[in-house]
Amino acid sequence: MQLISLALDNFRVYAQARLTFPAQTTVIVGDNAQGKTSVLEAVCALARTKSHRTNRDEELIRWGAEQGTAAGEFRRSARGPVSLRMVLTAPETAQFLGQPAKQLAVNDQPVKGPRDVIGEIAVVVFSPDDLALAKGEPSLRRRFLNVAIGGIQPAHLSDIQQYTRAMRQRGELLSLIAEGQGSREQLPSWDQQLARHGAQVVLSRARYVAQLAAVAGRIHRDLTDGAETLEIAYKSNVWREGADQASAIEGVLLEKLEARRSQDLALRRTMTGPHRDDFALQVGGNELRRFGSQGQQRTAVLAMRLAEAEVARERLGETPIVLLDDCLSELDEGRAGRVLEQAGDATQLIITTTHLSEALRGRGDAAVYRVHDGQIA
Ligand SMILES: Nc1ncnc2c1ncn2[C@@H]1O[C@H](COP(=O)(O)OP(=O)(O)OP(=O)(O)O)[C@@H](O)[C@H]1O
Ligand SMILES: [Mg+2]
Repeated sequence: MQLISLALDNFRVYAQARLTFPAQTTVIVGDNAQGKTSVLEAVCALARTKSHRTNRDEELIRWGAEQGTAAGEFRRSARGPVSLRMVLTAPETAQFLGQPAKQLAVNDQPVKGPRDVIGEIAVVVFSPDDLALAKGEPSLRRRFLNVAIGGIQPAHLSDIQQYTRAMRQRGELLSLIAEGQGSREQLPSWDQQLARHGAQVVLSRARYVAQLAAVAGRIHRDLTDGAETLEIAYKSNVWREGADQASAIEGVLLEKLEARRSQDLALRRTMTGPHRDDFALQVGGNELRRFGSQGQQRTAVLAMRLAEAEVARERLGETPIVLLDDCLSELDEGRAGRVLEQAGDATQLIITTTHLSEALRGRGDAAVYRVHDGQIA
């Protein structure tokens, strides 16, 4: 997949920008706080209907403006070209006008919502915040899985939604029972729903992590020139290595929900299931979170992102657009050069950086944009 052109109007720092992406690699160079990340953010928002750095759409509208727009033309090998557009209106103005705050269009046709857009274009984003995938809370790794799997298997997003809904309703019932108002007899039906949707979520995650681990391990070996090995292992309180049947997982989940019912009642929340999942990252057998150096953590997370793109390519039969935000700083020249090689010739790379490093200069065919104070040329 390839981004051909991008038009931004009152989007973040840009009053107006018109960009074309003629080459396989585009480098966006500029000092801090000039508007580099905002370009990648626009591409991500078009593909996923959501920014990768905020959930609040109105933050994307340029300060002082009522409406912000991003529009992109994309090329795809299998399904032909597609254009995506996102128009964001400040919430009060949208309410006043009686129109949605977020309007999406595919090929100039307005669509109802994210489901009509997600799946048209796949992007993989590496952001400096991704270091938190190595160091941070399990919830961040679960989000990584939701987005990565959802991008190649949209049904996963409805599995998550149904699971989350069942969990919320079970939680409400637990509270009612604890307060002496609800009936315990209603619990089994929620347990069954939770187990059914939960098993689908667990199975998709287990399969995805296995695939990701194999590819990321290979990429990581290349990035470190064979010096280090990355291992990724799925951790779930209802899944054991080798379990590959939804019905078996559903059985385990149901059993545990029943066994821990009194604890759940005491805490008024469900303590078992994929909402508590995680995956472990190890480099050379050591836990990356605790023992990894800054560079090792960055390399591992990059390997994971490049693997995400590779797994998506295998599933979709097309390479996602890879957006690398400031990923080469902190890497030595050897690793930085190998990151660019790893992405491969078929991948469109859009990279931001404050400095054109040796590795980037070596990429003679790259298009270079310079950005300064929301002006890009
Ligand atoms: N809605 C908005 N309207 C106008 N300006 C904004 C808006 N949101 C953010 N900005 C400003 O846009 C500028 C550019 O932000 P951006 O994150 O794109 O910079 P960057 O070039 O990636 O910087 P860095 O190298 O520090 O990551 C920042 O100064 C930021 O404060
Ligand atoms: Mg930035």
